[in-house]
Amino acid sequence: MKNRLIEIIKEAGEILKEGYYSNKDVTFKAKKDLVTKYDVGIENFLKNKFLEEFIDYNVIAEESDNSNIEFNNSIIVDPIDGTTNFVNQVPHTCISVGVYKDKKPYIGIVYNPILDELYEAEIGKGAFLNGEKIQVSNENDFQKALISTGFPYTSGTCEDDLNDVMIKLKNILPKCQDIRRLGSAALDLCYVARGTYEGYYEMNLKAWDVSAGIIILHEAGGKISNLDGSKYKLFEHKYIVATNGYIHDSLVSNL
Ligand code: IPD
Ligand code: CA
Ligand code: CA
Repeated sequence: MKNRLIEIIKEAGEILKEGYYSNKDVTFKAKKDLVTKYDVGIENFLKNKFLEEFIDYNVIAEESDNSNIEFNNSIIVDPIDGTTNFVNQVPHTCISVGVYKDKKPYIGIVYNPILDELYEAEIGKGAFLNGEKIQVSNENDFQKALISTGFPYTSGTCEDDLNDVMIKLKNILPKCQDIRRLGSAALDLCYVARGTYEGYYEMNLKAWDVSAGIIILHEAGGKISNLDGSKYKLFEHKYIVATNGYIHDSLVSNL
């Protein structure tokens, strides 16, 4: 299944690439949350192919009405993660596809066609970037850890969420190496998986933002949890904390 998924996602990557270098009509779903015809076009392309070829699976996808779709044997799709980057031609943008069998993680694929970086993992078989095995960093000193985060779209409308973002930045910025905000949750998780970042946290993410990245990070030796350090549950938790494992407790306690 993984090889065929990769072929299809690479085809979809051509649509993303074409859109990246074109003029885009941008529509706003909310104050800060935007969407283009390419998000919808890539999603339709992937959905049609997946439903036709993987008949035991349903598809849960960002731009679709998922209200009648039960999470079980599911392919969870973010057609463009990092849409704000895509619109502004910041090359940190990707297609993210996570496959779950009986609700359990199975395959994760994240593809950035602009930089031609394909991250992939199948449970129990390791994680790979363009065919080369990847692993988390072994840095265990929190002061030397490069941490990534993201800002929720609700920061423009919900003061509690905005305050929470600011408090957490204030808590950890003096204690770590530095903080990055590159704008794609799926890629941020892959950057922890490849050892670029030691850790990552964010609030208010949706299942499609992280469905693939958490599988890739798990297979690269990383650790993923809720804000209190307990097991992260897709569709349930407000916060995700994801690290190389070595700095996990420090990140959780400093947040
Ligand atoms: C967003 C990106 C961003 C994160 C947002 C997500 P989108 O996804 O992953 O990094 O900070 O919370 O919603 O809207 O570009 O698919
Ligand atoms: Ca997303
Ligand atoms: Ca998206």
